[in-house]
Amino acid sequence: MDLHPTVSIVGAGPAGFALAADLQSRGTSVLLYSHPTRRRHADHVESNGHLRASGILEGSTELRVTSDMAEIVAFSLVIILTVPSTGQETVLQELKKFDLRKYAIIAIPGNLFSLIADMEVGCVFETNLSPYSCRMEQGGLTVMGKKELIFIAALQRDLDPAVYETIESIFPTELKWCSSIIEVCLSNVNGVFHPLMMLMNAGRIESTAGDFLLYRDGLTPAVANAMVAIDRVRIAIGEAFGLSLKSSVDISNECYGQSFTDFVDLAQNSPPHNRLMAPSDIQNRNISEDVPDLLVPWCCLAEKLEIDASPIKAVIMLAEMTTGVNYMETGRNLQRLHLENVSREELIERFSPVLGKLVNSTLSTSRL
Ligand SMILES: NC(=O)c1ccc[n+]([C@@H]2O[C@H](COP(=O)([O-])OP(=O)(O)OC[C@H]3O[C@@H](n4cnc5c(N)ncnc54)[C@H](OP(=O)(O)O)[C@@H]3O)[C@@H](O)[C@H]2O)c1
Repeated sequence: MDLHPTVSIVGAGPAGFALAADLQSRGTSVLLYSHPTRRRHADHVESNGHLRASGILEGSTELRVTSDMAEIVAFSLVIILTVPSTGQETVLQELKKFDLRKYAIIAIPGNLFSLIADMEVGCVFETNLSPYSCRMEQGGLTVMGKKELIFIAALQRDLDPAVYETIESIFPTELKWCSSIIEVCLSNVNGVFHPLMMLMNAGRIESTAGDFLLYRDGLTPAVANAMVAIDRVRIAIGEAFGLSLKSSVDISNECYGQSFTDFVDLAQNSPPHNRLMAPSDIQNRNISEDVPDLLVPWCCLAEKLEIDASPIKAVIMLAEMTTGVNYMETGRNLQRLHLENVSREELIERFSPVLGKLVNSTLSTSRL
């Protein structure tokens, strides 16, 4: 595969702009895509003439933004998606108009994007998280944190090792290659943190319009206990696939290079987390993305694997009762993931880490 040192970024929100500014400062040419009906950040940046960044990424960057997917496809063979997973199907409809058999698509975060992307693509990668913790207002980007490492896997398992190296050379953070997209999805710890923090603080969010610190004030010992219950199910799903997943706190520690002992310690003391204000409304992507596209697939996988998913199911039901949305139906259930007719054994075999380990060992050898 011929990959150029250019990158197209689909998704012009804080995560896309932070990635674009970071990559451009490292000498990579970037073109951003903003969906024509979702141009609020892009329009601000365009009218300012540049992106103003503050926090751990400082300065002013000129960035090109288009709403024409043909330009994105013509610009680079590497397309990084930074839309929320709830927006992936919208951009997929646009991408399907093109022949992408020579392209690499990287979904940040993936949330099992590979399994819903029913089109032929050269290679599809997924990450567990966005490299940046960031917010945007009036075209101004504030980057509160940058992960030292993010988890990634390819859907395809027979890729040329040079492709992995190209992806590594593009990314602004270290990459931890996982055995499968299932391992990556189970490592998106937002599914453990976000929905419970929102639901167990729903009254406070609505009565203060989010005027409190989401982690520092909202992740107290009782909330942490509930998170531990969700984390146990997540780890048990991993075990069924032969994976030894770390706790969510340890995954967060690994990504940020921190060493917090538990959820409350992290919430109190982690700089990228402990200054984050709560959203002003319960209808926020901490629920609308993380419940349907993380908790629903985790719950469905657990049930298929005959694991007790009741803690996750309870959170999904509470989110459904709170918002009136049937997330089990709208979310990434087995049918949407094209896994409904796959047996338990086939599921385990398809995402077994054995082959992944071979890929990783090939990779390390190729780097020597
Ligand atoms: N920002 C962070 O600190 C952070 C941290 C960890 C993970 N992430 C993850 O990274 C991803 C991107 O984050 P972000 O903060 O940049 O997200 P965002 O601002 O909510 O969305 C990114 C862009 O995608 C657009 N979009 C949303 N829904 C869409 C749809 N259905 N169709 C087409 N475009 C759509 C948004 O438009 P609108 O502005 O109109 O919504 C925005 O332009 C999310 O999955 C998020 O969970 C972000």
